[in-house]
Amino acid sequence: MNFAPSKHLQQLKKGIFHELAEAKRRVEQSGTPVIDLSVGSPDLPPPDFAREILSSLACDGRHYGYTLGAIPGFNDAVARFYKKRYGVPLDPETEILQLIGSQDGLAHLGTAILNPKDVVLVPDPGYPIYEAGVRMAGGHPLGMPLTEENGFLPDLTAVPEDIARQARMLILNYPSNPVAATADRSFYEEVIRFARKYEILVVQDFTYSELVFDGKTATSILSVPGAKDVAIEFNSFSKTFNLAGCRIGYVTGNAQVLNILSDMMSHTHYGVFYPIQQAAIACLEQGESFIQQQVKRYESRRDTLVEALSQGGWNLQKPPATMYVWANIPKGWASIDFAFRLLEKTGVVVTPGSAFGLQGEGYVRMTLTQAEGDLQKAAERMSHFVKQGVR
Ligand SMILES: Cc1ncc(COP(=O)(O)O)c(C=O)c1O
Repeated sequence: MNFAPSKHLQQLKKGIFHELAEAKRRVEQSGTPVIDLSVGSPDLPPPDFAREILSSLACDGRHYGYTLGAIPGFNDAVARFYKKRYGVPLDPETEILQLIGSQDGLAHLGTAILNPKDVVLVPDPGYPIYEAGVRMAGGHPLGMPLTEENGFLPDLTAVPEDIARQARMLILNYPSNPVAATADRSFYEEVIRFARKYEILVVQDFTYSELVFDGKTATSILSVPGAKDVAIEFNSFSKTFNLAGCRIGYVTGNAQVLNILSDMMSHTHYGVFYPIQQAAIACLEQGESFIQQQVKRYESRRDTLVEALSQGGWNLQKPPATMYVWANIPKGWASIDFAFRLLEKTGVVVTPGSAFGLQGEGYVRMTLTQAEGDLQKAAERMSHFVKQGVR
């Protein structure tokens, strides 16, 4: 027998992280100490109170059945959090849907909503599941270039009229991975006007909603009047509360779309582990000071890394949000060659910008998921590498 992946799966690019991990292993074996700034998995623990809830409930043998969806209290807690933090009222019954991480919803949305060959506008560079989710559903992703000149926001006026008419979905991600940019209310107002005009579903990924620096806060797209007619917004506990491995998130907004996704999930999902749901509720209700500490920590790491790199000759700005630094690399390098050569010569692992789309060429992404001492060391090694002009 010969088994082959489906045509949809064959269209997906192989993840770069696999190759990086392999190269990292070789460098480690050669004795070079590695500092990994490639994967966006939080290095810090969730709040103590969340771990206590998780461990005590996990010891109780009654909590091991299928939950089949949100437990009582979860949607109410999300609704209160949304009202308090973003001023957005949500109906807990119809405008909130629990997910096994936002990735889960982003991956399944295309299959629930799209028909073969449907056009979807995706950010380029963008988080890879946007394109992959569309392709797995047989849809056709079209990149919207995010450039430094446009503040890493897509230029909707540059979308050709015929493409706008064909598009079924438009995917956004602010604060964004990998470009670490934010979007303001006026941008979302323009998006909502565009979506209404061309009858497009707007999908905003708000996974980094709380990791915003310099005393600022992020805007929820749902706070724009009329947004719920055309938009849904994904959120997560992974980055805000460091619960990444627990796999819990949610999507809010347009009730009809959430109902379709929920229908689909009734075939594929049996719900999130009860103790995890309880820990997540507690995070939403008691997590305010934890979020403040978390923001301070990442902000300070950002300052350390960016200041050290700037002094070392790198040309980059302090990002306003997220756990990433999106950095220009010296001219003449392909980002993939730069990343592998940097790893081989210095032991610092970064992700080549091209892994996130064509427009990512010329950049690398660094994560802030290491202690400040290691970020400082990594910056020194990277600066030395760039100054030497190694090829
Ligand atoms: C932009 C973005 N969206 C979604 C996810 C997935 O998050 P979750 O852990 O909630 O599935 C990530 C994870 O890195 C991300 O960077």
